[in-house]
Amino acid sequence: MVDPIELLRHLANGTFYSGQKLAAQHGVSRMTIYHSMRKLEKLGIAVVRVRGRGYRLLRPIELLESQYILSRLKPDYVKHVSGLEIFPSLDSTSSYLLRRAAQGAPGGLVCLAEYQTAGKGRRGRRWVSPFGSNLYLSLLWRFATYSAELSGLSLLVGLTVAQMIRDLGGKDVCLKWPNDIVFANQKLGGILLEMSGEMAGSCHVVIGVGINVSMPIAESQDIEQPWINMENILTENLPSRNHLAASLVESILEAVLSFERQGLEGLEYAWREYDCLHGSPVTLHLPTMVKSGKAVGIDRFGRFRLECDGVEELFSSGEISVRTHT
Ligand code: BTN
Repeated sequence: MVDPIELLRHLANGTFYSGQKLAAQHGVSRMTIYHSMRKLEKLGIAVVRVRGRGYRLLRPIELLESQYILSRLKPDYVKHVSGLEIFPSLDSTSSYLLRRAAQGAPGGLVCLAEYQTAGKGRRGRRWVSPFGSNLYLSLLWRFATYSAELSGLSLLVGLTVAQMIRDLGGKDVCLKWPNDIVFANQKLGGILLEMSGEMAGSCHVVIGVGINVSMPIAESQDIEQPWINMENILTENLPSRNHLAASLVESILEAVLSFERQGLEGLEYAWREYDCLHGSPVTLHLPTMVKSGKAVGIDRFGRFRLECDGVEELFSSGEISVRTHT
């Protein structure tokens, strides 16, 4: 069998390659090339086969390259990265780092995957993760002491990621509490923070970020809410996936480093500029009840502020979902 990623590197530009030449170049039979192509298809990669011309990818693909991503990181950030691992396929980048953390992996470990077989969203949802089209990235970070403010860290990550997308030209990108990155009421990305450790001692978090870059229409049928891609937002200036991945690593590091320096200080004010719910009538779906009111921002711990009949109530993220009234 040929390593499917090696074969993909060969086919990446989307032009035709004859089965015979591919077989010769990889030192295998044409039948082996045929089976390797089937393997690519099982990963969700559309391969076109035309008699007499050979094989080509339906859509050219840019594979993620760790050396390139690391080389684009500013020195202030790269020194905090203990490793950057890229997998063609994983169950989930966050599940992988949680396993690595349990085995003692150091903080600063970054993991990306081209494809997730069990991508995790918030509230037990599945994160649709087709091959090579979006970004699925997680970071393991270790904190010397547990802080009650850690539950707000995912909002800080949302803020730095949204800032990065605005800097790239996505001017109207905003945030829907607690963790949705949104453009024109459609979801562009999401953040999942998983935490482990002792209340009284050290702890670690795995921050997982998924960003839709170029979602194939076929896979998008499985997404349960309105969604949008980076390529729809940055039509003219869409950076390469590797460039985006480097920017994403920097944004997440910016959030954790800022958290280490000053906790959530200033978050409630910075959030205001990105908050797409502010002033809107909303309904909160709690595990045992539903509550309606007006969204009036977040407090200094990142809790949702709901104004109900002139009285303000605070809600932590957990199992809550927020719906706007349309
Ligand atoms: C959400 O529901 O909005 C959060 C989605 C988080 C998805 C990312 S993709 C990388 C990382 N690995 C996962 O399994 N989930 C997160």
